[in-house]
Amino acid sequence: MQIYLDTAEVEDIRKYAAWGVIDGVTTNPSLVAKSGRVFEEVIEEICGIVDGPISAEVTALDADGMVAQAEPLAAIHSNVTIKVPLIPEGLKATKRLREKDVKVNVTLCFSATQAVLAAKAGATMVSPFIGRLDDRGERGMALIEDIVRTFRNYPQFNTKVLVASVRNADHVRQSALLGADICTIPPKILDKMVSHDLTDTGLAAFLKDWENAQTAEGATTS
Ligand code: E4P
Repeated sequence: MQIYLDTAEVEDIRKYAAWGVIDGVTTNPSLVAKSGRVFEEVIEEICGIVDGPISAEVTALDADGMVAQAEPLAAIHSNVTIKVPLIPEGLKATKRLREKDVKVNVTLCFSATQAVLAAKAGATMVSPFIGRLDDRGERGMALIEDIVRTFRNYPQFNTKVLVASVRNADHVRQSALLGADICTIPPKILDKMVSHDLTDTGLAAFLKDWENAQTAEGATTS
């Protein structure tokens, strides 16, 4: 499974990219607004840090507007992946952008039937938002299971399943078990994924034993 970072914070991207586990980055208008920076500049900077798909979302609501906003963004770098919403105009824009060989991430997907439409339009990836379904008492992971199983039935669908709106490390574990192609993860959840108390206590014990052995060795050779 590929791991994308779900943030527009360039310093975080630099930090986690150094771990060597980041395959791409997703941003959205809320994340870019939170960064307080100029959209195009942030996208260009991210492209210089991570060599993989970098999602940049358009805000127009009609296909013409989406394509017009997408073109200068796609020109920033070949890794820029245009994010369009899963609405009829977004599907139209997807088809047109894919004809121009621009990568497209169809976002705000909340049902398997929406995902099928994104695949039919030629989306490079589709983003089901699992946390937002969980938030209202539905089971987000059930949606991932549905989409992964559905896409497996149709090898002609080239659309990757990108699990988005991830709220905890268990969402990542379940996404991997289900065979999702990509999971986009907020930095704080990557921190939770990497840490384990037994790793910390085990490491401390190894270092202490090593130090004790060095001290004992020093005592016998002096
Ligand atoms: C990523 O592409 C999505 O925009 C993001 O995961 C949404 O997450 P949220 O539901 O926590 O805002």
